[in-house]
Amino acid sequence: MKIIPSEGQSFQKVLSEMKSFRKEDANYIDGRTWSLVYHLNEDHTEFLKKAHNLYFSENALNPMAFKSLKRFEHEVVQMTGSLLNAGEDAAGTLTSGGTESCLLPVMAYRELALSKKRFKKIVPEMIVPQSIHVAWSKAAKYFGVKMVNTPLTSEFKMDVEVLKQKINRNTIMIVASAPSYPHGIIDPIEEIGEIAKTNKIPFHVDACVGGFILPFAEQIGYKLPLFDFRVPGVTSMSADIHKYGFAAKGASILIYRNMEYLKHQFFIQQDWPGGVFASPALLGTRPGGPIAAAWAAINALGQKGYQDITLRTMITTKKLLKGINSIEGLAIMGRPHASLFGYCSTDPELNIFAVGDVMDSKGWHIDRLQRPEGLHAMVTPVHENVADQYLYDLKKAVEQVRADPGSGARGNAAMYGMIAKIPFRGMVKKQVMKMMEKMYGPDCEMPMDQPGKEPFSIRAGARVMNWFSRLRRPD
Ligand SMILES: Cc1ncc(COP(=O)(O)O)c(C=O)c1O
Repeated sequence: MKIIPSEGQSFQKVLSEMKSFRKEDANYIDGRTWSLVYHLNEDHTEFLKKAHNLYFSENALNPMAFKSLKRFEHEVVQMTGSLLNAGEDAAGTLTSGGTESCLLPVMAYRELALSKKRFKKIVPEMIVPQSIHVAWSKAAKYFGVKMVNTPLTSEFKMDVEVLKQKINRNTIMIVASAPSYPHGIIDPIEEIGEIAKTNKIPFHVDACVGGFILPFAEQIGYKLPLFDFRVPGVTSMSADIHKYGFAAKGASILIYRNMEYLKHQFFIQQDWPGGVFASPALLGTRPGGPIAAAWAAINALGQKGYQDITLRTMITTKKLLKGINSIEGLAIMGRPHASLFGYCSTDPELNIFAVGDVMDSKGWHIDRLQRPEGLHAMVTPVHENVADQYLYDLKKAVEQVRADPGSGARGNAAMYGMIAKIPFRGMVKKQVMKMMEKMYGPDCEMPMDQPGKEPFSIRAGARVMNWFSRLRRPD
């Protein structure tokens, strides 16, 4: 087991060692990644670092101690609230990221339902579309709420007819996306809002990825369906400043229509020997840096800055959508509303995951979708300069896979393909659990730690497939 070095090393040595570790990390600065990092430019990043460093040590756990942090939080909530048309009574908190902004409403609405004795000794339920971000499944698991999935329509939107049928007295909330992570499509928020209002059920719009791009797209003239608090049934929204808000990582906004909802999120323990404890969100210690950088980013960019970023992003997205649709055998899934989308193969002979593998080998970092299978892209301004190269490489990748139809049975394509198709999802889960145990276990077994060997995840996939083929041996 690794131990803490007995003697400390010089700052310089530690830093240069850290830099050397980064060599194999994904290259986001040159637009090679299509998720994970929202990088505007070096100047903006340097500015964020300065703002973050000003509050490097401060802790928003106690707002009385660091009043400036409370002020930042309040102003960021207010500015985001007005951006999302939340109205004068809106109230919210800054959280550590999208996931926290998805976890907390589930807990808050469960508490609200409990306070109204809406359900009794029965598991509370939340209704979501199948495309909802996985953070909501995590929330359901953490807070003991049953997640009721509704299928997607052929346009990749929540099926409101099914939603109506699924509502019952245990329903504590409805969630929909603006837009969804996998396909970049806004759910029918107005229709859902109407249903939620009629049934008096809280309705959260997850705009974690869209909250800082959809409003600006509207402002510069893009026609979008209503997605925010203008829809009367919407009771809360999440919007990540660390995504299209171009702030430092660790900042998202969770905002409710009024305090009657937010108060159920607060935690107060009056009897703790450490003192009376009150906490507005999930974390105890709340790092000051991301809060300060969020305030700094919004003020430095202003509405005009965000509009410019949005315009550049939307133009690049349009180019990519058009370019991908023009490659024979590929098609965009549905009609994306913003700057992220999925695309799939329309030709049974063309394995989309094999196309992904070729793109990986050309240095792109692309996420895979399943159910249905596809590749994913989240566009930011850094992609302006690489969109043509991406489309060129994609066209070549499709040609390469067509010329080598067996490629879908090799490499990562084989693993993703197997994992997407296996009908026994419990088996997939079990294998992924083993993978996690290895990754987070004492040996920290990462795929790249095994030169010459296929990654253990592929072996895990192969094991699942072997197990499955034993049950259904081909003739
Ligand atoms: C719609 C949506 N909700 C929630 C999240 C979770 O955000 P985070 O990764 O910041 O926890 C994401 C992340 O991409 C998202 O797209």
